[in-house]
Amino acid sequence: MVIIKTAEQIQKMQEAANILVDVHHHLKELIVPGISTLEIDTWVDEYLASRGATAEQKGYMGYPYATCASVNDEICHGFPREDLLKDGDIVTIDMVVNYNGWLADSAWSYAVGNIDDESKRLMEVTKESMYKGIEQAIVGNRLGDVGHAIQKHAEAAGFSVVREFVGHGIGKNIHEDPQVLHYGMPGRGIRLTEGMVFTVEPMINMGTFRLTIDGNGWTARTADGKRSAQYEHTIAITENGPIILTDQGELR
Ligand code: MF3
Ligand code: CO
Repeated sequence: MVIIKTAEQIQKMQEAANILVDVHHHLKELIVPGISTLEIDTWVDEYLASRGATAEQKGYMGYPYATCASVNDEICHGFPREDLLKDGDIVTIDMVVNYNGWLADSAWSYAVGNIDDESKRLMEVTKESMYKGIEQAIVGNRLGDVGHAIQKHAEAAGFSVVREFVGHGIGKNIHEDPQVLHYGMPGRGIRLTEGMVFTVEPMINMGTFRLTIDGNGWTARTADGKRSAQYEHTIAITENGPIILTDQGELR
């Protein structure tokens, strides 16, 4: 069952999202060769506390950290760790902010120092794919329109779409209905209506979309060891089109 949000509730989610946006703005400066993902995680946890917010992922289904930090061939749910990020790495930082009981969810891929051209292209295409999906998130369209737009753009670039992890409704809970597939057929799936709030968060791989799960039971990585990127926004459906709650104010 999809829980429809009122304008007031969406405003509360916007406040959580504003804090999350500030985190991502800081991360752009913070992520340089020589920092560890554990340091990033600690910084995020403390920053959220300073804003009167909390990291909803910590303790969620036993997940131990404030952030997911997925490096290179890690697709999602990477555990923050002490290893230092190196020049040329790419890292996706994902988090869910809880502010006064309302949530916002956003992941972003970052380049560490100077990265190779193919990694740049992967990141660009992944971000574009997310926005192509969001553009389709209008009242009267169906979820399949969103997934199809993402898949079409990613595959046209020669990349693949991860199947096992999907976007999701969000509100007072991290994962609500509906499931938002990042692939699919136009005209299929549920119809979008005003007041739906969900994430669009494609994970796009350079090679195969097949994955394996690490021994920690969480971390997904590409089966072929090639790189993966991810961008995620939380969006609200309105009669005037989607509002990107976690918008960073970037030009696109
Ligand atoms: N932010 C993740 C998502 O997009 C949540 C991951 S589950 C967690 O769905 F346990 F890692 F938090
Ligand atoms: Co999410």
